[in-house]
Amino acid sequence: MMEGLLYNVALMIIGTLLAILHISNAATKPPPPIFIFGDSTADVGTNSFLPATKIRADFPHNGIDLLHSKPTGRFSNGFNSADFLARLMGHQRSPQPYLLFLRSGRNLLRGMNFASAASGLLDVTGKDLNNIGFHFVPDHEQNIVPMSEQIKQFESVCSLLTYLKGRDVARSKLAKSVIAISTGSNDIFGYFENQSTIDPPVFINSLITAYEAHINALYNLGARKFGIISVPPIGCCPSQRVHNSTGGCLEIENTFARAFHSLLGTLMKKLSVKFPDMKYALGNSYEMTINVINHPQLFNFTSIDKACCGKGLLNAEKGCTPDANLCSNRDEYLFWDLFHPTQYASELAATTLYNGGLQFVTPVNFAQLAAP
Ligand SMILES: *[C@@H]1O[C@H](CO)[C@@H](O)[C@H](O)[C@H]1NC(C)=O
Ligand SMILES: *[C@@H]1O[C@H](CO)[C@@H](O)[C@H](O)[C@H]1NC(C)=O
Ligand SMILES: *[C@@H]1O[C@H](CO)[C@@H](O)[C@H](O)[C@H]1NC(C)=O
Repeated sequence: MMEGLLYNVALMIIGTLLAILHISNAATKPPPPIFIFGDSTADVGTNSFLPATKIRADFPHNGIDLLHSKPTGRFSNGFNSADFLARLMGHQRSPQPYLLFLRSGRNLLRGMNFASAASGLLDVTGKDLNNIGFHFVPDHEQNIVPMSEQIKQFESVCSLLTYLKGRDVARSKLAKSVIAISTGSNDIFGYFENQSTIDPPVFINSLITAYEAHINALYNLGARKFGIISVPPIGCCPSQRVHNSTGGCLEIENTFARAFHSLLGTLMKKLSVKFPDMKYALGNSYEMTINVINHPQLFNFTSIDKACCGKGLLNAEKGCTPDANLCSNRDEYLFWDLFHPTQYASELAATTLYNGGLQFVTPVNFAQLAAP
């Protein structure tokens, strides 16, 4: 009798312990890795490692709202959307730039950030920004990292993962990972800066063809979950508004952004038929941002057309440098500098991508994409 009771009590204790272990195991289960590709909207310091590039943000006032106001290479007063997405997924820290990983060799399983400011879908995008006078820039001193090169870097990470963990574990990790891509704006800027005479539909199709090749390459390396962030209304950047005498958006560039998003939607549908084990979430940055521009008061913005940090008309004729004007109410500005959103605007965007409804992200949001 007594023995039976003790036996039952012992079983109960073991059962409770197992339950606790199970819960704490669930609570500490690490989130899936996130691998981030794209341009300055997601760059967390890549370009700071490229000595030849002029497109960098590793000086004040960038980073003014970070700990010790430290510039980190982010084009922001604080964190950017890549950081907030990683945090929303449950990561304590944003994945480090690949070029930093090459030095530290640490934290591979958190993911990695390959994004490089001024880069685009096309290899030519941002290339001319490489020129420092007449001086030849050798490849290892390149100014920016285009998408094709970012994917080569990812390939080396995949090989390393396979080497360290074995083929099966690496394959399963990669299939669970979120591949976040934010690119395309710089290609469209390049088209207008170059005063290109290519027929607009032909040009946009060339961007979609490039995107398809990049996603195919990532898929072939084992990526399965794609979080795609399309092009915002780039004609509304302060840098573009200064070219409109009314200070309004440059409508032609916004037309390109809308066309790009629409064709990207068609491409993603096509790819998900071709690859049944692929999942994707397509963020409509255009809709998200225009919504803020049209209803700033809903989000407590008081300035949606002017850069917080910069000089000249709309603070948009110069970048954010140590001697630039700086606003104090940074959470009331949509734009940090002539091209980039403030930390607060980036957080809003990331939250919408992660939890937003079908108006902003389809066919699932980033939370559903990341779920096991
Ligand atoms: C702009 O035009 C130059 C000269 O034709 C070309 O070399 C460059 O690749 C073009 N840039 C873009 C982004 O198309
Ligand atoms: C300039 O902005 C106004 C709105 O203020 C808009 O109606 C007009 O189309 C814009 N001009 C160009 C060239 O985009
Ligand atoms: C805007 O500010 C008001 C008053 O401070 C606050 O109650 C509200 O939550 C804010 N809205 C957003 C979207 O942050």
